[in-house]
Amino acid sequence: MLLQTTPNTLIDLSRKTDGSQDRAAFANDVADGLSQNPKQLSSRYFYDATGSRLFQQIMALPEYYLTRAEYSLMQQHRSDMVSTFAAGGFFHLVDLGAGDAMKTKLLLSELVKQEKPFNYVPVDISGSAMQELSKDLRQTHPDLLIQTVVAEYITGLQWLQQHLPERKVVLFLGSNIGNFERDEGLEFIRQIRRHLKPGDLFLLGVDLAKDPATILAAYNDASGVTAAFNLNLLERINRELGGNFDLDAFKHFALYDPQLGVMKSFLVSQREQEVYLEATQKRYTFAAWEAIHTESSHKYTLQQATEMGRSAGFEFVTSYLDEEGGFADMLFKAI
Ligand code: AVI
Repeated sequence: MLLQTTPNTLIDLSRKTDGSQDRAAFANDVADGLSQNPKQLSSRYFYDATGSRLFQQIMALPEYYLTRAEYSLMQQHRSDMVSTFAAGGFFHLVDLGAGDAMKTKLLLSELVKQEKPFNYVPVDISGSAMQELSKDLRQTHPDLLIQTVVAEYITGLQWLQQHLPERKVVLFLGSNIGNFERDEGLEFIRQIRRHLKPGDLFLLGVDLAKDPATILAAYNDASGVTAAFNLNLLERINRELGGNFDLDAFKHFALYDPQLGVMKSFLVSQREQEVYLEATQKRYTFAAWEAIHTESSHKYTLQQATEMGRSAGFEFVTSYLDEEGGFADMLFKAI
């Protein structure tokens, strides 16, 4: 086994600043989005501490089937997945956007059980999440080789390409691909492919097109957690950019377009109003019922997902589905 770095370490490639650069980039994006017609804000800003906590609650909601479906398909297929991953000998299991690795832990236990040689490489932009995960895994799997990387996806992949040249199996789970617009999603998978070698594997979690009512309910839950998650974006702008959004004057609205296979979330202004941001020293006007588009969650058919992998330079290997056939982990091989 050839490991060019010391195992069980944490590499921090996140930008080391006093936060002012991040705030300036956030302010720029918000100013840009609120000046457009129609208005938009990026869903990447959902995940501050409150947003991350609310997302954990979303994943446990009865309506939000995605996490349960992927967890159950991994429970069902983990033995097969692990045998396929390990068929070429030692590999780096790269987990893009690992978070608490709730689903990946199923694979880790199975790999340990089957005594397969591998190194686990969780990659995530959240340093605190990665520290907690390493601590947690040191306790549950003390013999596991772990190389934790705190970085944006592409920076992380570049580092891996340079420092861990051995065979890789890359995971991009949770339907995170759905939050990219379709062309951006394809470009992102192309980027992943560019950082891999022929023979490396890629497992992509996709939420499949299904009954529009089921999808709509998942993003418009009865208890209002998704609404709070969406509205938290305005609260974050108020707190971090000195905004004066009146949260009671906006409402969460979600709709699913079954032809385009996209769930769209909006924040709708319930009256004519003006909002001021200290960070940009500008006012933004809203007409009554004007909407800000805050998130897209794309759903794919199996055919569309296969085609996306192929267009990015992968060969389709197989798809693992949950029992209801609503969620798929698609396995691709780099060619
Ligand atoms: C993170 N991502 C895959 C979630 C989704 O389903 O699009 C984010 C989310 N937004 C509302 N509910 C969950």
